[in-house]
Amino acid sequence: MTVVQLENLRQTYDGRHIAVHQLNLTIPSGQITALLGPSGCGKTTTLKMIAGLLNPTSGRVLFNGRDVTTVPAEQRSAVMAFQNHLLFPYMTVADNVGFGLKMRGISAATIATRVAEMLEQVQLPGYGDRRPRELSGGQQQRIALARALIIEPEVLLLDEPLSNLDAHLRDEMRELILQLQREKELTTVFVTHDQEEAVILADQVGLMFAGKLQQFAPPRDFYDRPRTAEIAQFFGNENLLTGVIQNGRFQLDHSEIELHINHAEQKSAQITIRPEHIELVTPLTPADNHVTAKVTHRLYRGTHTRLQVTIENIPLTVIVNSHVDFPHGAAVSLRLPPEKLWVLA
Ligand SMILES: Nc1ncnc2c1ncn2[C@@H]1O[C@H](COP(=O)(O)OP(=O)(O)OP(=O)(O)O)[C@@H](O)[C@H]1O
Ligand SMILES: [Mg+2]
Repeated sequence: MTVVQLENLRQTYDGRHIAVHQLNLTIPSGQITALLGPSGCGKTTTLKMIAGLLNPTSGRVLFNGRDVTTVPAEQRSAVMAFQNHLLFPYMTVADNVGFGLKMRGISAATIATRVAEMLEQVQLPGYGDRRPRELSGGQQQRIALARALIIEPEVLLLDEPLSNLDAHLRDEMRELILQLQREKELTTVFVTHDQEEAVILADQVGLMFAGKLQQFAPPRDFYDRPRTAEIAQFFGNENLLTGVIQNGRFQLDHSEIELHINHAEQKSAQITIRPEHIELVTPLTPADNHVTAKVTHRLYRGTHTRLQVTIENIPLTVIVNSHVDFPHGAAVSLRLPPEKLWVLA
């Protein structure tokens, strides 16, 4: 069981380009943590600093409270499997998988046994004599995982382990990672730019934008309790209302609209509501938190329909049942449930 702590971790390339800013993060032991963010936000850089493959410009990396910042990669109990799984092309699969043990001076006989076990575990028994080029992309990913796990690391670092895989293989690989991680209670950090992947696989998600950690929380929180509008947007929610909260009511700026809200403070605020939390209602009489909206665009998505609407020129997205159909310009009544209105920081 290993807790990984990052303290004021910072990485600058070429002395000026800041790839990672003062990163403070405690990665819990025995769980899967996702580092999520758009391309170039510093995910791989962070992972390399945890692995010991890149010296931080400043700051510290601690494993179970022990400072490992200057400990070389091969002496850390962490192992990283790469973004573009670099198997050694001229080695057999068995030599690739056994590589980490060979570097540690383990006997050939022990290596052979352990390699066979690992190949079983990643469901590729009997593939030891092949070369990497004789494997499919998905099989190569699994061999890369076997090569990482054979040294029995305490911390497993995976850089985009599911990229370059088709949907079916991605599901298989995801299951395999989960199974191996749960079995060994490995502290696992995996990097992805795919929000859905992070949500499905991770216990905790660290969202990064431009080298800065934005929010570290369980996946659900990014939907229900995003810290900022940008975070909400990254998770597919662009709904944003600006106004003033007073006495449990939210008064929209430049508008007559007032909504009940479960928030005691009095302040100017930006609030959000997820598209799937807005309800389509048939109003007989006007009621609390009902608003009238005009449909500006609709997008049929098979399982649901995304409606773009405006309420007094404020754009909102609403997800509704696929079967309901509204022409462009139609007036609809919506309910914004008070308990679903979330006040942004
Ligand atoms: N060796 C390097 N020298 C200079 N700049 C670098 C180097 N490696 C990365 N960078 C820069 O640092 C920033 C972060 O890079 P990093 O590889 O950590 O991003 P990432 O989040 O992993 O992106 P992706 O999702 O595309 O893999 C980027 O702007 C990148 O251009
Ligand atoms: Mg990367």
